[in-house]
Amino acid sequence: MHPARFITLEGIDGAGKSSHLEFIRQWLQARDISAVFTREPGGTPLGEALRGLLLSVETEASLDTETLLMFAARQEHLDRVIRPALAAGQWVVSDRFTDATFAYQGGGRGVPDSRIAVLEQWVQQGLQPDLTLLFDVAPDVAAARMATHRTLDRFEREQAAFHARVRDAYLARATAPRFAVIDSGRDFDAIRADIASRLQRLVEQA
Ligand SMILES: Nc1ncnc2c1ncn2[C@@H]1O[C@H](COP(=O)(O)OP(=O)(O)OP(=O)(O)O)[C@@H](O)[C@H]1O
Ligand SMILES: [Mg+2]
Repeated sequence: MHPARFITLEGIDGAGKSSHLEFIRQWLQARDISAVFTREPGGTPLGEALRGLLLSVETEASLDTETLLMFAARQEHLDRVIRPALAAGQWVVSDRFTDATFAYQGGGRGVPDSRIAVLEQWVQQGLQPDLTLLFDVAPDVAAARMATHRTLDRFEREQAAFHARVRDAYLARATAPRFAVIDSGRDFDAIRADIASRLQRLVEQA
């Protein structure tokens, strides 16, 4: 049996995170690896309610409130979904996690990393993803991909400079070994080949 692993998907809005979830699901399934797929903000009933508030364009919140709500949802997610699954030997694949707070509330909005790091330690107590797939793409490419499809949420509506800061903040974090930076400007096949090779490495790291 493969030891349980925690994988997160990160990147700016429209970078392509959700597009590859099904590929990852099938890749793991083909190897008989049992996995839980989840997302942030969200992943629990309370977390999904908070997600609704956080993404709603009606919501007004101070920077610290926004950050605290993200971590409140994350605490619930860790307690009720992520830690129990890992303890039961299941892999966990989360569409966004704490790197998104460093990127959006930190890089995007200007909350100091040191404040976010306090909350990271509070809720994670040392737990970190084993692999973070960072889908990196120029903000204008991501915006063009999204524009055709949907109404934009509270973060997606931010101006181009905001998304550029979010991207830079992600890339600045990606020096840690758990990160795989994936050039998401390419076609799906090229991206999936990269994802598969990183997953393979994770399986072999047993
Ligand atoms: N490599 C790619 N080539 C072409 N189109 C892509 C690529 N990756 C994603 N797209 C398209 O871009 C759009 C956004 O992709 P997706 O929803 O996966 O992004 P996301 O990172 O999950 O965004 P969000 O953060 O808003 O959830 C989708 O319409 C998707 O089909
Ligand atoms: Mg998505």
